[in-house]
Amino acid sequence: MVIISPSILSCDFLNIENELRALEPCKNIWIHLDIMDSHFVPNLTFGGPVVKNLHKITKHPLDAHFMVTNPEFFLDDFKNYKIHNFTFHVEANPNPMDIITKGKKIYPSIGISIKPKTPVSQIPKEVLECIDLILIMSVEPGFGGQKFIEISLDKIKELDQLRKKNKYHYQIQIDGGITNQNAKQLIDLGVNNLVAGSYIFSGSPQGYPQMVESLR
Ligand code: DX5
Ligand code: ZN
Repeated sequence: MVIISPSILSCDFLNIENELRALEPCKNIWIHLDIMDSHFVPNLTFGGPVVKNLHKITKHPLDAHFMVTNPEFFLDDFKNYKIHNFTFHVEANPNPMDIITKGKKIYPSIGISIKPKTPVSQIPKEVLECIDLILIMSVEPGFGGQKFIEISLDKIKELDQLRKKNKYHYQIQIDGGITNQNAKQLIDLGVNNLVAGSYIFSGSPQGYPQMVESLR
């Protein structure tokens, strides 16, 4: 079953506990955490102090998406916060294998992400061979509520073909501008994990599970 990852960037931060509890009835979802440093991207969000206790109010796996210049700083910092997946950007580190090797000893899943202007070919082959997840950014990272960039469709196809041809095990995740209008097409192309922020959190909390299902 396709995983849906609600991005709390669009939730009501004054009521974060209720927002997460409203997602409890959902099946097969990850809670997507957008960690931004105001350097790698032009926005600043939250870090350890906010993330640290989230696992106490949700049973769902936590999916940390680091949009930061120095992801290696966070490998150790976040190790006790019950993060399921640790994703960082290939643009942030010319030698991603170091982070992946260290990260695999700490987290159940490690992901690598590419921005809209970064080609799939920028992900080294040795990374493709061992990475658990590839996150295709379908908007410029930094803000929710932007429009889906169509070139991302070609990247999904390319990564799906590479995966089939070489028997790679990574899941393909997509993030930015996801709605019920494009979700089916993305799933048909091979996406396994859809991140959605503004689409899911635009209505009232009792409707979140329905919004999640509408993407599947
Ligand atoms: C943007 C973040 C996304 C964001 C998606 O940089 O990585 O996770 O929350 O928001 P929507 O779904 O509104 O495009
Ligand atoms: Zn994200």
